[in-house]
Amino acid sequence: MAESKIQKEPSQDLTAGENRPQVLIKDLWKVFGRDPKRVLKGDLSTKSKEEIQKKTGCIVGMRNINLTIGQGQFYILMGLSGSGKSTLIRNIIRLVNPTAGTIIINGQNVTKMSGEQLLQFRRKTFGMVFQHYGLLPHLTVLDNAAYGLKVRDVPRGERYARAMRTLETVGLKGWEDYYPGSLSGGMQQRVGLARALANDPEILLMDEPFSGLDPLIRRQMQDELVELQEKLQKTIIFVTHDLHEALKLGDRIAIMRNGEVVQEGTPEEIVTHPADDYVQEFVQDASPAKVLTAGSIMEPAKVLLYAWEGPKTALTLLRANKRNAAFVLDKNHKLLGVAKAESLARLLEQEQVPERIPQSSIRVVPTVKEDTILEDMFSIISDNPYPVPVVTGDGRMAGIVTTDQIFESLSPAEGDAHV
Ligand SMILES: Nc1ncnc2c1ncn2[C@@H]1O[C@H](COP(=O)(O)OP(=O)(O)OP(=O)(O)O)[C@@H](O)[C@H]1O
Ligand SMILES: [Mg+2]
Repeated sequence: MAESKIQKEPSQDLTAGENRPQVLIKDLWKVFGRDPKRVLKGDLSTKSKEEIQKKTGCIVGMRNINLTIGQGQFYILMGLSGSGKSTLIRNIIRLVNPTAGTIIINGQNVTKMSGEQLLQFRRKTFGMVFQHYGLLPHLTVLDNAAYGLKVRDVPRGERYARAMRTLETVGLKGWEDYYPGSLSGGMQQRVGLARALANDPEILLMDEPFSGLDPLIRRQMQDELVELQEKLQKTIIFVTHDLHEALKLGDRIAIMRNGEVVQEGTPEEIVTHPADDYVQEFVQDASPAKVLTAGSIMEPAKVLLYAWEGPKTALTLLRANKRNAAFVLDKNHKLLGVAKAESLARLLEQEQVPERIPQSSIRVVPTVKEDTILEDMFSIISDNPYPVPVVTGDGRMAGIVTTDQIFESLSPAEGDAHV
């Protein structure tokens, strides 16, 4: 992928190399009220939200926000009511205009765009889904899904074809001719999602899209969104109050309080190292099993065998290290499986001892990826006598995780237990 010309914020580490920055937010402020710019001058800007409100009557919606959101990232904004999440998401598309600061999207300065430019840019780049589905009750499901395309003057045939496709994507095939009123909340929100996707936007903005739904339906919608995102790889900016939703969906999370971002990081960073008591409050119910990954707790395997080694060499190595088994790698460092000392010993009793460890003496074992969460490893460790090997996408050995390591990392460290 081409290197972006936009300079990365040094403090914001984008998780993966392929994630080029798509949304850059710099020193962004939104102050509501009369003559809001005066709040940014001098001393006043350093005062608390309450003090500013008391002195000027102005409300600080958002204060000095700096964020970098990479392409294809699922980015979560979280915080208590009134912390500025909606203000931020609305500022990104300038449904609300910032008081100060810069928003750069795909290298373009959105803060400087004129009305017409902005309109075009919004339509081309964004899809929006909000808590209240915003469906038009007198239009059918199909017309609702096609609505954004109609506004963009996409010809009728094409817009219906595209709307049909996205309705199918969100599991609503067959419902095209119904009216929103005859659909459940979950289904209505799917129409909202279909409408946002019909345009094939690069960036999806979702402000508490599932908070009006029953818990069961909500979980189902989350699962579907995860699946959809696997396919679509959109950049998604998603507001939620719900920690479990954030952990399940997010690649990164920004936690907001009083209009500020108080912590930004991966779910794992936030749960394991909350920056302050406010964040701690948020994450105290989080189960580390749902956020800690195999990659974060793995260790290098101390003894490794190589497929080209002879059984005698391998057995000597195992015995010298007091092991009764070890993982076997090929020349590309790919994991072949486990070889046990007793099967190597049996080879040595044969009349013709093979020159290399034969495939028949290597047992294939379950593996996990670096981003596998610990919860998903429970079923593996329960009936597996070996440590679990962690492998990269192309099958190379990255490390091992033992059952002890899993349980150690799940039990609270002494001193910070809050039970
Ligand atoms: N149009 C407005 N005029 C004045 N103040 C506003 C306006 N919109 C938002 N605010 C204020 O800005 C702050 C942030 O509000 P915002 O709606 O962004 O919070 P939020 O995090 O989305 O909250 P919620 O979780 O309840 O949706 C609040 O103090 C709010 O009162
Ligand atoms: Mg809100």
